[in-house]
Amino acid sequence: MRARIASNRTALAFPVVAVTAGMVALASCASTKSDDAPTLTGDALMDSNNCLPCHAEQVREWSGSMHAYASEDPVFVAMNKRMQRETNGQAGSFCVGCHAPLAVRLGQTTDGLNLETLPRTMRGVTCFFCHTTDAVEGTHNNPLRLAGDDHLRGGLQGPAKAPHKVYYSALHDREQAASSAMCGTCHDVVTPLGAPVERTFKEWSASLYSKPGQLSCGKCHMEGRDGFAAQVEAAPKRTVHDHSMPAVDIALTPFNDEAAQRKGVQKQLDTTLLAKLCVKQTPTTGLVAEVTLDNAFAGHKFPSGAAHDRRAWVELIAYRAGAQVFSSGSVPDKVAAASLRDASLWLLRDSLFGEGDKEVHMFWQATRVSSEQLPAAVTADRSDPAFLHSVTKSYPLPLPAPDRVTMRVRMRPIDFDVLDDLVATGDLSASVLDRIPTFDLASTVKEWSLAGGYRCIE
Ligand code: HEC
Ligand code: HEC
Ligand code: HEC
Ligand code: HEC
Ligand code: HEC
Repeated sequence: MRARIASNRTALAFPVVAVTAGMVALASCASTKSDDAPTLTGDALMDSNNCLPCHAEQVREWSGSMHAYASEDPVFVAMNKRMQRETNGQAGSFCVGCHAPLAVRLGQTTDGLNLETLPRTMRGVTCFFCHTTDAVEGTHNNPLRLAGDDHLRGGLQGPAKAPHKVYYSALHDREQAASSAMCGTCHDVVTPLGAPVERTFKEWSASLYSKPGQLSCGKCHMEGRDGFAAQVEAAPKRTVHDHSMPAVDIALTPFNDEAAQRKGVQKQLDTTLLAKLCVKQTPTTGLVAEVTLDNAFAGHKFPSGAAHDRRAWVELIAYRAGAQVFSSGSVPDKVAAASLRDASLWLLRDSLFGEGDKEVHMFWQATRVSSEQLPAAVTADRSDPAFLHSVTKSYPLPLPAPDRVTMRVRMRPIDFDVLDDLVATGDLSASVLDRIPTFDLASTVKEWSLAGGYRCIE
């Protein structure tokens, strides 16, 4: 074993890791030196514990990711339970088809109501599910085809000898645009009623980032670093890829590496948007604060994905002599942003409408979606009028003029109007409400003061 293995646990794991039922093959791993036949095959490939000895970093990162948490999430469990009840079971495997896809493909669940009784290897988006995918047969609702063989697919050129079969796949190579389709088919959700509630892949496909030579999902979400793909003697130096994929959601119950996940989310959110705050006086508009937001770094709209549950909003406060004279988007703790009586509120979200065009919170009830998102870049050509894709909103300020104006963008992965609805039907425990974070996006925190005159702060 090389010295590069940082943690003791990892260093020891390879030779002494406990042999569990599915691990018979691994115990004889050393024999691969003399024998070419792969020893890690069949069901043993489905258990991420069996990957730990050689892929400790990928296992650690994945274990604290939303992929690992996808069917543990109490909000997911509550919504699935409620959907099954409200549709008399007709929803079937719709939700678990993405949140516990291996269990569905192996016939271990039909509706996700038995998730708790399934082994860990069947829950969430697992190593095996991603690495056994061999074709993408559609654009949404997870039409990924599984190979049904013993090969693990990945992006490595000329892989070293491993105890399992390996196979190069463009779907797993973030340098290839095809890899976005692998991620994208799950990251695009169309409900049984036909509402396109999550459109991350579609948004990416229409953006600058899908053009040749641009950025795949993995280029932004699986950061590369120098290292070793496997902790075995024969493995060459490689670029390895972060499997923790933090974005907005965090675990809402005790889970692996929670602090790291939260830190990862904050770091991403802190560098996603560019913001500008201008305070100006013109004869036509009077005194106004103008806020400009530019989705400069997300490869799709912002917010994306589960934007029907997500809320991002601008908080803008004006002061004179230390006292507040105007505020918009001052959302108290535990209060849903959408419930604010605030005519100037700039709230980024999807709104869902169902029967009779009434607003609904549960996305399977939706027949129509209306979106307020920041658009993504569509061209890198500065002379193209479409190059500028920032959005500006103005806030009227009272006179006499304030002497200080502050702004920031705040974000919640899921807001209290949706959660309260689930608590009210008895599907979700109210204790989850205490765990909902409100993130402040560092790059959007701006302050203007009268002392510097009317101007823009970038
Ligand atoms: C959401 C899909 C997904 C899941 C889940 C996933 N991987 Fe990966 N993995 C990838 C992709 C995509 C790459 C290739 C990135 C590239 O080469 O561009 C990769 C690369 C790898 C590699 C090659 C080294 C590297 O870091 O690039 C190993 C080894 C690996 N994964 C192991 C695992 C293990 C073990 C697990 C579970 C603990 C896991 N993966 C879970 C998608 C996934
Ligand atoms: C005894 C060590 C060992 C174990 C255990 C092991 N692997 Fe590997 N794996 C390797 C080696 C060696 C490579 C090739 C590394 C290289 O060439 O840099 C590899 C490569 C990979 C790749 C990249 C394949 C490609 O073509 O790009 C994936 C994905 C992968 N392993 C997944 C897994 C998963 C999932 C498990 C658990 C079910 C697992 N491995 C268990 C040693 C191991
Ligand atoms: C089998 C379906 C599936 C595939 C394939 C898949 N994902 Fe996911 N992904 C999910 C699910 C489900 C969640 C959400 C779990 C949750 O929040 O409960 C998720 C969560 C995420 C998140 C975190 C979102 C947040 O708001 O925090 C990111 C980022 C992400 N995936 C990126 C990727 C990338 C990049 C790939 C391709 C390498 C990929 N996913 C492939 C199903 C998938
Ligand atoms: C140019 C870089 C880039 C590319 C390409 C990209 N993303 Fe993102 N993604 C981001 C950033 C930045 C964010 C926002 C920060 C955050 O959510 O933490 C984000 C957010 C997300 C989220 C959280 C949802 C939200 O509210 O915004 C998901 C899920 C996601 N991306 C998946 C994907 C998938 C799937 C693809 C490919 C189809 C993709 N991303 C392509 C940079 C990128
Ligand atoms: C096509 C795949 C797919 C299907 C089908 C799907 N999801 Fe998801 N789900 C995702 C992905 C991908 C994410 C992460 C998106 C993001 O973070 O923006 C996600 C995130 C979530 C989240 C966490 C974010 C949030 O909204 O708080 C919950 C809860 C959730 N889904 C519930 C469900 C339920 C309930 C169903 C069935 C009614 C369902 N999902 C069906 C792919 C799917």
